[in-house]
Amino acid sequence: MIRARIISTGSYVPPKVLTNAELEKMVDTSNEWIVSRSGIRERRIVERDVATSDLAVQAALKALEMAGMSAEELDFIITGTNSPDMFFPCTSCFIQSKIGAKKAAGFDILAGCTSFIHTLSMADKFIKEDPKRKVMVLGAEIMSKITDWKDRGTCVLFGDGAGAVILTGEEGERGILSTHLHSDGSLWELLYMPGGGSANPPSHETIEKNLHCIKMAGNQLFKVAVRALAEVSQEALDFNGLKSEDIDYMIPHQANTRILEAAAKLINFPTERMYLNIERFGNTSSATIPIAIDEMNRSGKLKPGNLILLCSFGTGVTWGGGVIRW
Ligand code: ACO
Repeated sequence: MIRARIISTGSYVPPKVLTNAELEKMVDTSNEWIVSRSGIRERRIVERDVATSDLAVQAALKALEMAGMSAEELDFIITGTNSPDMFFPCTSCFIQSKIGAKKAAGFDILAGCTSFIHTLSMADKFIKEDPKRKVMVLGAEIMSKITDWKDRGTCVLFGDGAGAVILTGEEGERGILSTHLHSDGSLWELLYMPGGGSANPPSHETIEKNLHCIKMAGNQLFKVAVRALAEVSQEALDFNGLKSEDIDYMIPHQANTRILEAAAKLINFPTERMYLNIERFGNTSSATIPIAIDEMNRSGKLKPGNLILLCSFGTGVTWGGGVIRW
């Protein structure tokens, strides 16, 4: 059996740290509220002149270095992002040009925080079509530039960062076992950015009304997210004939510690085997999972044969999951 296997990883977060104590000076909030409601203590924020592809390139170069590969060997670059450099061209094309991946086909996926699982799913299909292909998939976000820094309900949650993985085909049991993707567009108003697109093109009015920033109904989203994460995790387990106890690590989208603990409880998954780094980076949207995979990989936590359960949830609303044998 040929499977798409992750052969290397890389990640990058900008050096500038924004702590909860600093946020206390910006909006009516407290470190105690943020930590108890979300699990976040600090997040990384880019400087004004940095674009999403700049973060992605740093992650991409680390993944290439680990693989001992040149960028010219890549066949595809697929980036999950909700905060692209520009509406068009796609951020993957900027990454392609900056790293010199001359023959790679580049395109983006915009499916909320779930986007990275979509990119893995696409890589899996491309590699099953031709196992020799080398596919780089990324999650990269600059959430700080679409955040309303006066809205305490959202500005405490998000951060900037990027993660990349390279996959290729390999005979055997290691690799992506399955991916599972879902959406429910009727719930779009739970999380959206109204301004700048064809529905509300940029104007003085859209700027004055702050429509170019994240709008979120956090409390309603919370409940939908818990159910969706639990359901898609169970779906991924059932599809592969696995039980919670067979899984070595769950690597979830880092949205909120309480959401993840509640979802894990619904499927009887022990939180000790759930990887969390939200405390340090906040919610970096589609970048959370590849950053977490890279941290675990580089620290030697992931051993060949480990079973990893992925799950994510985001704007759309979208949700997705998958199982990887490392
Ligand atoms: N500091 C202090 N108080 C605050 C803050 C803050 N930063 N933000 C909101 N509050 C207040 C509210 O105004 C409200 O006050 P009120 O009772 O006087 O009206 C009170 O705290 C409770 O607000 P809730 O929204 O009910 O608080 P909740 O316990 O739901 O926590 C939170 C809010 C953390 C946003 C939570 O709902 C959540 O995490 N939701 C999911 C958000 C999420 O994960 N989004 C991203 C998913 S998709 C993606 O990753 C892109």
